Amino acid sequence: MLICLKKYQISEIYTFLVKNTQILLANRPEGMVKDTDFEKVESEIPPLQEGQILIKINYISLDPAIRGWMNAGTTYIPGVPLGGVMRAFSAGQIIKSKHTNFQVGQYVEGLLGATSFAISDGKGLKTLDLSIGSIPQHLGILGMPGMTAYFGLLERGQPKAGETVFVSGAAGVVGSTVGQIAKIKGCKVVGSAGGKEKCDYLLANGFDVVIDYKSQNINEELKKHCPEGISVYFDNVGGDTLDAALLNLAKGARVVICGAMSQYNDMQNVAGPKNYMKLVVARGEMKGIIVFDFLDRYPEAIADISKWIAEGKMTSKEHIIEGIENFPNALRMLFEGKNFGKLLVKI
Ligand SMILES: NC(=O)c1ccc[n+]([C@@H]2O[C@H](COP(=O)([O-])OP(=O)(O)OC[C@H]3O[C@@H](n4cnc5c(N)ncnc54)[C@H](OP(=O)(O)O)[C@@H]3O)[C@@H](O)[C@H]2O)c1
Repeated sequence: MLICLKKYQISEIYTFLVKNTQILLANRPEGMVKDTDFEKVESEIPPLQEGQILIKINYISLDPAIRGWMNAGTTYIPGVPLGGVMRAFSAGQIIKSKHTNFQVGQYVEGLLGATSFAISDGKGLKTLDLSIGSIPQHLGILGMPGMTAYFGLLERGQPKAGETVFVSGAAGVVGSTVGQIAKIKGCKVVGSAGGKEKCDYLLANGFDVVIDYKSQNINEELKKHCPEGISVYFDNVGGDTLDAALLNLAKGARVVICGAMSQYNDMQNVAGPKNYMKLVVARGEMKGIIVFDFLDRYPEAIADISKWIAEGKMTSKEHIIEGIENFPNALRMLFEGKNFGKLLVKI
């Protein structure tokens, strides 16, 4: 037996013994996702081809965009096909490599899916520097959501010191990163989030004012706390919050449309902004952002954010759920406001 084992690398033995667990798209959801919209399957891990690597996934990232990817059709990226592995950012360690640019032991991150093992040709993968942040941080504040906050605020929002920046969904990874960067840039930072615990956390982490949109009137609070008007509104939620922000714009305001948490479960009937004519009065503008347009500039953002973390100017909060089988429930948590920080499934 011992002689027989010596013929194989440890990682090869491992993949003989272990099955791959994956979460597939079983149905196109209507409204909030249900457990029956997903199927958990187990399969053998196929042998590696030349130019491929095998990754043992440690964390799967739950991002609101996943809900959109479950719909039919194409937006900025095609929907997941029925029966396909759920698309998700995930990260893990290379345990086998037939690729000259990737070595066993390296940690990588990319659109590897909701899967416990992934085979990749390396395209679109980012190798992780764990000296600047943990794997969860590389999927959050140093990953796609952090890049969204950085480029959405700085490129689309163009904040200037002394201006007021309002960000909704402020307790999430994108929102809290936007608020903290705006503070570093010398702005007054106003956020909105659901519930006292999230609001208190933000006040203790650099926000000047936080509105609990579940118990307070957003328009009245914005009027009270933004007497000079809002110069940058970073919109993560859409709906009533977007309308309240439009009522309170400063002259020359920039409204950054990043996402619309309040609308994703019914994209056929998206509520348009009632108060868009306020853009005319403010001589303002409304711009969208898709983070993938900034792919080639990610290193610049990672350098700045990791420096700010090291200097103690930024913090991050992660919310970790154990077990790939909890992927459907974790996805629902985003839409129920049950996550507090960057939401991840740990395998
Ligand atoms: N454009 C891009 O390239 C891009 C890239 C990444 C992310 N995004 C967008 O950025 C936004 C934030 O993403 P994230 O990853 O940071 O998620 P997140 O904020 O960590 O999680 C979602 C949060 O949204 C809030 N929410 C849920 N339903 C809501 C509703 N009906 N009204 C108001 N708030 C609601 C909840 O917080 P509360 O407890 O405060 O309600 C929930 O915790 C999303 O809209 C996402 O689609 C866009």
